[in-house]
Amino acid sequence: SAAEKQGYDTFMLKEIHEQPRAVADTLLGRFDEGRLHLDELQTDEREFGRVDKVFVLACGTSRYAGMVAKYAIEHWAGIPCEVEEASEFRYRDPILDPHTLVIAISQSGETTDTIAAALHARDQRAPVIALCNIVGSTLAREADGVLYTHAGLEVAVASTKAFTTQIVGGLLLALYLAQQRGRMYGSEIEDILGRLQQIPSALEQVLELDGEIRQLAEQYQAVPYTMFIGRHVGLPIAYEGALKLKEISYLHAEAFAAGEMKHGPIALIEDGSLVVALAAAGHVFGKMVSNIQEVRARGASVLAIGTEGSTADLKANADHVLTLPEAPHELAGPILSVVPLQLFAYHIATLRGEDVDQPRNLAKTVTVE
Ligand code: G6P
Repeated sequence: SAAEKQGYDTFMLKEIHEQPRAVADTLLGRFDEGRLHLDELQTDEREFGRVDKVFVLACGTSRYAGMVAKYAIEHWAGIPCEVEEASEFRYRDPILDPHTLVIAISQSGETTDTIAAALHARDQRAPVIALCNIVGSTLAREADGVLYTHAGLEVAVASTKAFTTQIVGGLLLALYLAQQRGRMYGSEIEDILGRLQQIPSALEQVLELDGEIRQLAEQYQAVPYTMFIGRHVGLPIAYEGALKLKEISYLHAEAFAAGEMKHGPIALIEDGSLVVALAAAGHVFGKMVSNIQEVRARGASVLAIGTEGSTADLKANADHVLTLPEAPHELAGPILSVVPLQLFAYHIATLRGEDVDQPRNLAKTVTVE
């Protein structure tokens, strides 16, 4: 009903705008007396110190949050980490043992493939942590421990606030692993958590770009092909941006690691193609500028998602630049950079007259294989 949408036209738009609060709720009450506490995990804390390998298993948007978690787990905790489609994991022969931690990410906690993959891992005596939004869901109950994202109810099929809070949850798990392994100390973790507290207000700033994004959507609402490119943590956001556009606007979109383009995808670029480039300031920024130049030379229009520190270079190279505030940590950048892509897909779909809350052929929760 209209009341449930609290003045927004759709649940998706409402949920996009709820992200500052949702992220604040994910972060709430996690740090005390010099230590990160994830008490609701309810697992033996020492077990975390012995983990020597992590598998992240998820489907759809949740898997892209898992890709961000992988970078954080490797960077902060120094543990090798793989991310995989839950639907693939149990049909091969993954090598797990009691020192392998499985993180199963699912907004609903009811996705059949994710539950089955988690059970498959547990059969091999690997501890399973669920990163879930829905309290008491099947996955949350089956797992050895659970970390809730506290995003609140998400109604729209296309996931938005569930995703950004999953990224936060993944960062928390990575920091926790680092702490339990003695790789990071309280003061470092406190510093990072302190910086993460700035995300809600940074998200508010990003949401102010809505008018600018709507104008871009008007211009590109009939674009036949959109390619999203990114590197490092920009890559999962490129995947998520392409998925959002496909899910609700039905336009053809794909994402690639920017460095892979010259191995094939760049052949698709022609006059009229749109390339969305994730180009925050950071250690891969220079490489992204080269990739932007390459696609532009072949006729693409480029929409760059930059940050305050990268705008000047982008303005000289891209057709359009959306400037986000600098993320408080490079690994947290995706929490901000996905928002303009959610809004871009939203406005394109709306302008095309599509029902964004109930896209064709899709379900919010996939309870079949
Ligand atoms: C469906 C939804 C997606 C979601 C995916 C995984 O495909 O449409 O938005 O990302 O399932 O759902 P889960 O509840 O496991 O995160």
